[in-house]
Amino acid sequence: MVDAGQLQILAVDIAREAGELARRRRTEGVALAATKSSLADIVTEADREVEQLIRDRLAAARPDDGFLGEESDPHPGTSGVTWVVDPIDGTVNYAYGIPHYAVSIAAVTGEPDPAGWIAQTAVVYTPVVDELFRASRGEGAWLGERRLQVSTVTDAGALLATGFGYDPATHDGDIARVRRLMPLARDLRRAGAASLDLAYVAAGRLDGYFERGLKPWDHAAGALLVTEAGGRLGGRPGGAPGADMTIAAGPELFDRMRELLEQ
Ligand code: IPD
Repeated sequence: MVDAGQLQILAVDIAREAGELARRRRTEGVALAATKSSLADIVTEADREVEQLIRDRLAAARPDDGFLGEESDPHPGTSGVTWVVDPIDGTVNYAYGIPHYAVSIAAVTGEPDPAGWIAQTAVVYTPVVDELFRASRGEGAWLGERRLQVSTVTDAGALLATGFGYDPATHDGDIARVRRLMPLARDLRRAGAASLDLAYVAAGRLDGYFERGLKPWDHAAGALLVTEAGGRLGGRPGGAPGADMTIAAGPELFDRMRELLEQ
């Protein structure tokens, strides 16, 4: 039996420590460590250092759990719990000195694959503004003492957000999808950190979010925030959120977005 509350206490502590390390390293300057899938897909030394800190803290507290992180090799574990971690989501913002980035930590049970896992607890922490979004399965989503609730869209239209993958070959398709969704929108944001886009949908700061090409660590924590705030989260019809498509919104807007994205 998993105690999601205990997992959350641990995740909150570690996210705060990791966020503080990321923020401190940013003030000291950023060194690029490597590029990944494309020239635009970067990893900084801080990404690696912050992931190592999170990994070490989790291994010390819960040595039998698995680990799936953006910057290091996966580890299967034996407890049935896997931690899914993006140490610095919004790496490009981070590298450019834009303060919109976050530490994203989720604990999931079941297969460590978004198609089948059950998210138990989630934390998204953005250190510069010191906001910590958290959710545990069945316990709601929270920002401090405020319980979060997704928005209901008005006649003014939806404030939508999206993202563009790092591979230039996908940009035409991304832009075509934006064009299809704009009739629903009052305006569009591309802020640069998927975990925060999802946290903002949960908080009603955005009405809806969609993006193709996300990795499990980009959406694992934010997804639980959205569903615990009364929203819907999915991919293509019948599919899980993930690389094909991730859509998050309140129930009514979700259906309208999915319909237009499928056209
Ligand atoms: C990226 C950000 C970005 C999204 C990309 C992600 P990273 O994560 O979440 O907003 O558009 O698809 O890969 O690389 O900064 O951890």
